[in-house]
Amino acid sequence: MDKGALIVGSVNHDAIYNVEHLPKPHETIPASHYATAPGGKGANQAAACAVATERPVHMLGAVGQDMHAQFCLAYLESQRVDVSNIVAREDLPTGTACILVDAEGDNLIIVAAGANGGLTPADIADAHDLFAQSEVILNQLESPLETVRACLAQARALGKTAILNPAPYLSGAQALLPLADIVTPNQTEASALTGLNVSDEEGARKAAKALLEQGAREAIITLGANGSLVATQTQTVYLPAYRVATVIDTSGAGDVYNGALAAALCDGASLLDATDFASAAASMSVQKPTASHCAPAREEIIALQATKAANRR
Ligand code: RIB
Repeated sequence: MDKGALIVGSVNHDAIYNVEHLPKPHETIPASHYATAPGGKGANQAAACAVATERPVHMLGAVGQDMHAQFCLAYLESQRVDVSNIVAREDLPTGTACILVDAEGDNLIIVAAGANGGLTPADIADAHDLFAQSEVILNQLESPLETVRACLAQARALGKTAILNPAPYLSGAQALLPLADIVTPNQTEASALTGLNVSDEEGARKAAKALLEQGAREAIITLGANGSLVATQTQTVYLPAYRVATVIDTSGAGDVYNGALAAALCDGASLLDATDFASAAASMSVQKPTASHCAPAREEIIALQATKAANRR
């Protein structure tokens, strides 16, 4: 029993363009900087989790047999993620993403799923032993819905803690909620899942209640710079965000949040303490470029938490 975390999801090769503003239809704009980086919500979460805990972190996903796969897997390994369960498809390329980041750090992302779309429920069944040895299982929605459903069902059958990060929102994702121990939407995703307006704390409270009524055992709604709302069967708690002086790039902040949340839960933290740890990690991530190279180490997160009172918004 290694009591580690298992992240199931996407691996992408990201092409990142820094622009003054996000383009409008028919507009061609120059980029002030261009870079490539490993990415994919699943891979970003796995890397963020691995640097935030000393426990084993495994990833289950699918890539192609191409240079993008080599680039991404080498990065994950360098971050201590076990990649031995990432399958290499002959018939599909590694997923890719085009990310535009504007002067305020806001982003726009286009994803071509590639091999991520080829991760099947059979792959989940084949990984039964890996599920059995893991403590926390974390999914996003860059894999087919039926695969995520199989993953959540297997985690539930084995009595594991299953986190569903419903990003990006997919039509039909509501059906997954009864299988999720913890669901972690941002405002946009919470709104799409519940049909409610989630633009402030009050809206988030209503949406969190609706998510529990739809079957999730616990819900954390992330409100970006406005903090997080945590709802369990017995209480709803608002946690303010950590103060950030300069936002460089918000892409991947949600991934760092979820990876750090999984890490803290593996380490035995309560839901509220894990949420605070995740919130601190995400606040640090937006101060660095790229969605994958921005995750802080466990010691850095703990150091920020130690200055909590001074750093709260
Ligand atoms: O959340 C950021 C990620 O979304 C990027 O790395 C990109 O690959 C897309 O999956």
